[in-house]
Amino acid sequence: HVIDWTADMAEKAGYDHFMIKEIHEEPGAVRDTLTEMDDVMRVVKEIGEVERVCFVACGTSYHASLVGKYLFESILGIPTDVILASEFRYSARALTDRTLAVFISQSGETADTLNALRSANSRAKTLAIVNVLGSSATREAQHVLYTRAGPEIGVAATKTYVSQLTIIYMLVAAMGAPELIEKLEKVPAIMEEALGDEDNIRALSSHYSNVSDFFFIGRGFSYPTALEGALKLKEITYIHGEGYAAGELKHGPLALIDDGVPVVAISPPGPCHDKTLSNVEEVRARGARVIGVGSTLDEALRKEADDFIGLSPEVDEVLSPLVYIVPLQLLSYYVSVERGLDPDKPKNLAKCVTVE
Ligand code: G6P
Repeated sequence: HVIDWTADMAEKAGYDHFMIKEIHEEPGAVRDTLTEMDDVMRVVKEIGEVERVCFVACGTSYHASLVGKYLFESILGIPTDVILASEFRYSARALTDRTLAVFISQSGETADTLNALRSANSRAKTLAIVNVLGSSATREAQHVLYTRAGPEIGVAATKTYVSQLTIIYMLVAAMGAPELIEKLEKVPAIMEEALGDEDNIRALSSHYSNVSDFFFIGRGFSYPTALEGALKLKEITYIHGEGYAAGELKHGPLALIDDGVPVVAISPPGPCHDKTLSNVEEVRARGARVIGVGSTLDEALRKEADDFIGLSPEVDEVLSPLVYIVPLQLLSYYVSVERGLDPDKPKNLAKCVTVE
């Protein structure tokens, strides 16, 4: 009789890696985070009037913050800045008692984020959005909201990212856009559908395991998704990945597009769609190999793309950051596995960075 499992595998619940297990936990993480709505309403009431919002974070949490900027400005009309925590001290921020400074951190222990939080505490209203109960950020911020992602072991953030996004959408809902809630409630089921396309993504990732560069393009709400897609790729595949606002292609990266260079085009249905599609045509004309990520009904994008990842047509631009990141995480995961790497433990990177 052969014992073919270890305690380590049991924790992975049969999955090969924590990362893929955690990607599969995303619908549940969003569902659990949505149960925090009462807490979000309470905190919004406590915070009171807000004239400006300033998000501060690192890494993947910074990308969640960028989505926050698009939401706060386009839906609530509140001017919003997003600052990398490591840059916070170098920019003279006009924080006032009517500024809400939002610190997003999975661990609640990132040194740069904590330092920024400490310096903002006396000058602004501070809110920490954190996944780890009782972590330093939760003790130091004036207000705290928890993401309910559960423990995340993989170094590359996945389910904590979508949980952070969920809290941000809930915050915006509580601050004046209650219609968002109904849309958010549909997200877990739509994510499950997206995960159902895993075999397609695994199959297409085998075409990309030997490339040296990757571009991710998107406009509006899809720009942060492009950045986060590129970060995932760098972290776990060691392939150079660059996220670009589609409209910036002409200002530099187009010079790097050659035969076979993969370009992931993130193009959900909405006002940005046609403009992104013309950027896709531009890169294709220069030989790029396009991976289109869009609505299953998007025949135009499907036609332009060499590979296509289809998502529910119900997801519009505003909601897309929550759903469109899922296949990009899967793509990086499978490219990493294809390259014989361990996606859970990328070289030179740590789950939590407690030094400046
Ligand atoms: C490290 C991790 C990233 C994470 C970043 C910020 O670089 O490897 O996954 O996004 O720190 O961490 P935080 O805990 O503050 O969200």
